[in-house]
Amino acid sequence: DKQKSWQHRLENTPDELAMNFVESLSYDRRLYKYDIQGSIAHCEMLEKQGLMSRSEREAVVKGLLEIQAEIEAGSFVFDVSQEDIHMAVEAALIEKTGDAGRKLHTGRSRNDQIATDMRLWMRDQISALLDKLAGLQTAFVELAEKYTEDVMPSYTHLQRAQPIVIAAYLLSFTEQFERDKGRLKDLAVRVNISPLGSGAAAGSTLPIDREITAEKLGFAGITQNSIDAVSDRDFCAEFAFACSMIMTHLSKLAEDFIIFSSTEFSFVKISDKYCTSSSMMPQKRNPDMLELIRGKAGNVFGSLSSLMMMLKAQPSTYNRDLQEEKIHIFNAADYAENCLEMAAAIVSNTQFRTDKIASGIDEGFLDATSLAEYLVKKGVPFRQAHGTVGTAVALCEKRGLKLAELELDEFKKLSDAVEEDVYESLTAANVAKAYTSPGAAGKAQSEERIRYWKEKLQG
Ligand code: ARG
Repeated sequence: DKQKSWQHRLENTPDELAMNFVESLSYDRRLYKYDIQGSIAHCEMLEKQGLMSRSEREAVVKGLLEIQAEIEAGSFVFDVSQEDIHMAVEAALIEKTGDAGRKLHTGRSRNDQIATDMRLWMRDQISALLDKLAGLQTAFVELAEKYTEDVMPSYTHLQRAQPIVIAAYLLSFTEQFERDKGRLKDLAVRVNISPLGSGAAAGSTLPIDREITAEKLGFAGITQNSIDAVSDRDFCAEFAFACSMIMTHLSKLAEDFIIFSSTEFSFVKISDKYCTSSSMMPQKRNPDMLELIRGKAGNVFGSLSSLMMMLKAQPSTYNRDLQEEKIHIFNAADYAENCLEMAAAIVSNTQFRTDKIASGIDEGFLDATSLAEYLVKKGVPFRQAHGTVGTAVALCEKRGLKLAELELDEFKKLSDAVEEDVYESLTAANVAKAYTSPGAAGKAQSEERIRYWKEKLQG
């Protein structure tokens, strides 16, 4: 008795080594729901097209739903000799329904079947990631609301740059994760097209109706070339890239918070819930969760490059290489989702040590650019103002002074454009209040953006 239909063609059944090597059931079983959903749509279409009777369709749908329930109850026996989720479900269906089940694969190949399953899975996965991204954005906005007044340094090259309100720093991440959402939404449009009915590579001579299955599955349309449709995994590479970009942003956040929580910075206190200690050094509070987020970013990039490598030199249409793509998109999705969730919990439980930040805020000449802009307002060309302030900074450094501690006559020696009001442009606190340009890192801009995000993220 031939277990699989194609065993009529082959003299030997695969040995155990080959069977374990070729199988994907161990990881593609997580597609069961989508596989069954696709099969139900397919068999309903077959009935409409006269390729299956009503009672056969009823038996198949009932059988498929039973199989789904068995899988969900944990009573379904997965047998790797069935190779993959498609064969496992079909074999169980034939066991339940006999000839009705034997008709299900009419006008279909596992090649268009897997392409369909993956797109259905990805649609859901994209919306799960969008939810997680919105959750993290909300955590940032809520934290930002607490710090619209407090000033911190911004850094370029990790050297002190210009003063910013803490809220503006936090909101910079909300923007990054909004772009990540945009990438996933763009991708969702390309994902939401049905390859079902493309068959193995060339379509079918049977009167199947691809529009019916597409509509039943909620796809916005059908693919237009069967050869392309069975091999297109662009959406997998794009998905892995979107996850990689999320991880890049998370890794930057992790790196910032790791640095900011060091004794040297002492800018943030990450909740004890998200730290670990040392088995040897009793004083330690280590930001391990953040380090793992940074590390896990590398894992996701690995999935992206694995996908690119496996796609780059396949000949046209379906090749079994493609089976492996699932390992990488599942991996990228799981890692991104877990890290987004962890990051949101960390952000929600982080405090900025505003006292510590304030006590050192006037170190490092954060107000130098503001002083140059003060001179510009007095009519000095910017390049000249830049040079004058450079001289002032060098002078202050030599004498151990801050710019705001220079006497007015000292200023006047450097530039006769300076007047008494110069001090209003100095100190980090004054500068942070004076930003006027849209999108600047000041209080007013941050408050406006918080209002924008609150409305957007609630809606
Ligand atoms: N498990 C396979 C995959 O994931 C299904 C398609 C197999 N098709 C084939 N002709 N061998 O790609």
